[in-house]
Amino acid sequence: MSKKLFIETLGCAMNMRDSEHIIAELSRKESYTLTTTLEEADLIIINTCSVREKPVAKLFSEIGVFNKRKKAGAKIGVAGCTASHLGAEIIKRAPAVDFVLGARNVSKISEVVNQKHAVEVSTAFDETTYSFEEYRTNPLKAMVNISIGCNKSCTFCIVPATRGEEISIPSELLLQEIRKSVANGAKEVMLLGQNVNDYGKRFSTEQTPCNFTQLLQQISTIEGLERIRFTSPHPLHMDDAFLEEFASNPKICKQIHVPLQSGSTRILKQMRRGYTQENFLNRCAKIRRICPKATISTDIIVGFPGESEEDFDETMKVLEAVRFEQLFSFKYSPRPHTEAAQYTTQVDTKVAGTRLTRLQARHTEILDEIMEAQLGEIHTVYFDELKPNNRISGRSDDGKLFFVEGSEELLGQILPVKVTKTSRGALNGVVITLED
Ligand code: SAH
Ligand code: F3S
Repeated sequence: MSKKLFIETLGCAMNMRDSEHIIAELSRKESYTLTTTLEEADLIIINTCSVREKPVAKLFSEIGVFNKRKKAGAKIGVAGCTASHLGAEIIKRAPAVDFVLGARNVSKISEVVNQKHAVEVSTAFDETTYSFEEYRTNPLKAMVNISIGCNKSCTFCIVPATRGEEISIPSELLLQEIRKSVANGAKEVMLLGQNVNDYGKRFSTEQTPCNFTQLLQQISTIEGLERIRFTSPHPLHMDDAFLEEFASNPKICKQIHVPLQSGSTRILKQMRRGYTQENFLNRCAKIRRICPKATISTDIIVGFPGESEEDFDETMKVLEAVRFEQLFSFKYSPRPHTEAAQYTTQVDTKVAGTRLTRLQARHTEILDEIMEAQLGEIHTVYFDELKPNNRISGRSDDGKLFFVEGSEELLGQILPVKVTKTSRGALNGVVITLED
């Protein structure tokens, strides 16, 4: 009889892809079906994020709750980034946990699941060429890891400690995986990595260079693949060739994440981001110039140690200059294994909170203006999810979320849609024929 698996995924797209790999790998050895009812699960996995402190605190309270609710004999496993950095300490603090599996050890899930208190968290482990079975939460949109780990050393960030050294996955394997997902119905691929546009250094020689721009070119030759997205690129590696490929390649969706973190050059230096405010604005201006229809999203941290009111004003200045279509903003959270956590200039959390509110309030105004201007506009939308009440959702090429009335027959189609109603988070529209 098939066992039931309950898996909760916290954090970024990479964690979501790791969960798909976990499901695929478990099903290779034993029969598992997914459940969303915790009480009926034989195996409960929490796939964690540790980029900020909140999800870590949530983990321990959740283990307690899950342990009370689970059926007798059900196992609890902790996977992902928090597993990587806390390792065996998780079992010490929460003995109800049966195993701990690091973010870079996913292929070992079948080994650890049947061992009491197994801990596999090595960040030196290399599973870049491991062949996982094909499992996709949504077969219409394939997430594909193109590199793992991160070689940067942003002083606030725990990721290099949880995901280890950056290693690119050979392009032949990537092309194979994408072709397979296209054969299974995907028209869109999302390429994942901590610094996607730093791809390929390890395969590059003077005679045969290998970089992200070339990878994009190779991937776009795949027949049947209509859309390519990627996250996250790093501003430091946004050279002209890459931006020109982004602008001119019709298969590349016109949505780009340009993570700012701070608008103050002084703070950027202390964050060790490798660019200045001027470099950042120059890259965004280039995107706006060569690809006016592109949307730009960003990540901003407020209250990094030593951030003064003047530094924060510089961040607000960049917000005004670029008018990001999407903003992910966070209060700085001191993390273990990071340099910035040691700084003696920590900003008062109330001050950081006030800055965050100011930033988000201004962004909301900008976003409202951007979205209201969409009324009557026409976008091509890839319909990828059925919704209740005879509705279907999808994304426009530039990443906007759309809802239209419609049913299954629209699923997997890319069609022109006219915007009939706008709101801050999504657009409503109707499918049109282009003569309309
Ligand atoms: N490689 C990605 C970042 C991955 S972490 C990049 O360069 O953009 C995702 C986001 O979490 C970061 O962009 C940052 O904005 C936020 N973040 C990371 N560490 C943080 C910390 N200590 N406190 C608050 N936010 C943090
Ligand atoms: Fe983190 Fe900086 Fe890498 S934000 S993931 S260390 S690029």
